[in-house]
Amino acid sequence: MPTKHGVPYGDWMINNSLERPPLGADATGVSVAITVSGLVKRYGARTVLDGVTFTVPSGAITGFVGPNGAGKTTTIRTLLGFVDRSAGSADVLGHSIDDPASFLSHVGALIDSPAFYPALSARQNLRLLADVGGIATARIDVVLDIVGLTARADDAKRYSLGMRQRLGIAAALLPDPTLLVLDEPTNGLDPVGIQEIRNLLRRLADEGRTVLVSSHLLSELEHVSDWLVVLDGGRVVYEGTVAALSGGTHELIVSTQHPDDLSVIELLCAERHFGASRSTNHRLLIDAPASFAVELNRAAMDLGVVLAELSPRQASLEESFLALIGGTR
Ligand SMILES: Nc1ncnc2c1ncn2[C@@H]1O[C@H](COP(=O)(O)OP(=O)(O)O)[C@@H](O)[C@H]1O
Ligand SMILES: [Mg+2]
Repeated sequence: MPTKHGVPYGDWMINNSLERPPLGADATGVSVAITVSGLVKRYGARTVLDGVTFTVPSGAITGFVGPNGAGKTTTIRTLLGFVDRSAGSADVLGHSIDDPASFLSHVGALIDSPAFYPALSARQNLRLLADVGGIATARIDVVLDIVGLTARADDAKRYSLGMRQRLGIAAALLPDPTLLVLDEPTNGLDPVGIQEIRNLLRRLADEGRTVLVSSHLLSELEHVSDWLVVLDGGRVVYEGTVAALSGGTHELIVSTQHPDDLSVIELLCAERHFGASRSTNHRLLIDAPASFAVELNRAAMDLGVVLAELSPRQASLEESFLALIGGTR
């Protein structure tokens, strides 16, 4: 059974007086479900994963975001043993990916569009999968209920895309996994369908499961991700909270009492290697952290320049994101 901490750490959970950190925990003691370290994947001369490094905390939702072609699916496939890596290492639920048999029974995955028999109902499709997986049939009603398909369980065909995605998640939940890995489950869904999937992911994480979910759109995951990993061009360009991402870039907006003095401010910025550009209304937009404001104000005063306006402007989350994924191109 999943625990609040996501991973059953054997006797650590029972006897936490043990002096060693729990299996899968990092040096800070935070429980980690997945550790990826310097993962490289080459197809011929092409490097599609170029030293991918990140961690996925237990019992939380990690959004794995990046534009199409960034390498999200390749990373996920490598973690689950569908693709052989060229270099690097990764641990899933405390086991090396070289030994997938030791963790795959605790993992539920949905990669690419799920394939189901269209002539069979949701319940019949799940029964086939349960039979193959040696899973008790009682579990079928449980997972149908979790994904909200109970009322439609015996309909065949005419499944909307949203229902097929939910059926895919139901299939991934059949083995009662500790770790759920969902590759673009919201792809192609309408806003209501996307919200339903997000609510479902939140419930699953609140039960203590670890969720790794990918999307090429930050907007689909920004409100639900406890942890964010941004991939671009086969490299991790950001790892942290969503809040820290939007707080990351700042601009200072400056205007001077005498518009002619703006060139003095430009000079001050250039000396300190901060980029500055003029807006049409005699303002200077400076690429600098808010902390530069005090220094700038003092330096301007020393030169006899009076500032009429000096205000920090925080970039929107979308601006921060675009700045990140633009940076590797
Ligand atoms: N089997 C393969 N052979 C060659 N190139 C591949 C293969 N699979 C993926 N790629 C390439 O690797 C890059 C990353 O793909 P992918 O992991 O699917 O990205 P994402 O899921 O982020 O859209 C893409 O440029 C893709 O064309
Ligand atoms: Mg993909």
